Amino acid sequence: MTADSRRSSRSTLLLAVTLALGAVLLATLVVVTASGHGRSTGPSVAGSATPSPPAPTPERDRLRDLMPPGVRIGTAIDGRALSLDSTYRDVLATEFDTVTAENAMKWRNLEPSEGVYAWVGADQLIDFAQRSRQSVYGHTLVWHNDVPQWVSPDWSPERLRAVLRAHVTAVVSHYRDRVWAWDVVNEALDEDGTLRDTLWLRKLGPGYIADAFRWAHAADPSARLFINDYGTEERSRKSDALLKLVRDLRAQGVPVDGVGFQAHLESARRPAGLAANLRRFAALGVSVAITELDVRVKLPAGPAQLRQQAAVYRDVLAACLSVPACVSLTVWGFTDARSWIPGYHRGYGAACLLDAQYRPKPAHTAMIELLGTRRPRGPGA
Ligand code: XIL
Repeated sequence: MTADSRRSSRSTLLLAVTLALGAVLLATLVVVTASGHGRSTGPSVAGSATPSPPAPTPERDRLRDLMPPGVRIGTAIDGRALSLDSTYRDVLATEFDTVTAENAMKWRNLEPSEGVYAWVGADQLIDFAQRSRQSVYGHTLVWHNDVPQWVSPDWSPERLRAVLRAHVTAVVSHYRDRVWAWDVVNEALDEDGTLRDTLWLRKLGPGYIADAFRWAHAADPSARLFINDYGTEERSRKSDALLKLVRDLRAQGVPVDGVGFQAHLESARRPAGLAANLRRFAALGVSVAITELDVRVKLPAGPAQLRQQAAVYRDVLAACLSVPACVSLTVWGFTDARSWIPGYHRGYGAACLLDAQYRPKPAHTAMIELLGTRRPRGPGA
């Protein structure tokens, strides 16, 4: 081999290696580009960064998606949490189809001085509900608590009656067609079944109850009007007395459409005979509703207590679902982060369906399971 031919064969080899390397590089580029497109979630514009999609929120079954038609699932809501806490808002909007103002519609908050109304807090809540396609349950028009200071027990019965009438009329008129049901009279009975000794009873006599219903009906004839109480979930002297009161009111033509059972319960005791009790009220021709359900647990709340709590929540839902007249079930707050229980029942807490980090507790799972077995989800679900 001459020097010339050696040089020429070396350059041929160099050219071949270069070409081969080039081919490998090109092939690598093609593969990288192709696999890059494969991962892409949408059309990408050359030279611009494609924003990655938001991290998916954890999927779970929601109560509002599973409730049978005609039975609302509600919660009390706290105006402060509504404006400050976006997780609270998200859960509220996705889990419930009905809301009750926990405090915003109580007399003291709505009418801080005579004839001067502070609608804004409750209005914000109603606006949120409308945006979230939720109904609003109004709470409450006549109660012995949260009566503003300016309402004086020294007034004459005539003056007191006029003030009560003006309040009921103003509030129901303001929310006409935006509130589907009202707790017109709250907690009118004592534990022994007699009418509770309140300012209203003392000054106006027992007729204040019928009057309040008539005034509310005149202000919004399409709102459903409820009488609401606690400790009436089971058969007792108090629930017997409530039954008689509702029967008598309706016999007099008073527009009482429904009876609300607050259901502030305890995990250690399953309610006995709830469905049968609801049924005897339904037999009067009224709707019934669970209006303030929570199940307090003696702290510390361990797994066994949370399982007992789940059984109570499930029992109450099962009772409501088994009575056709039961039109709604409302829980009194949905997260342990914001519940009235620790502040009002010393040594108790953990009363809600979700824990303080908004994670579902066994009670939520139990309700979902009950709803799921009653009404199987559609194909693909
Ligand atoms: C409670 C609220 O949850 C508390 O935030 C407030 O301080 C007191 O009232 N029965 C009722 C509700 O009808 O209005 C009460 O709500 C709980 C008992």
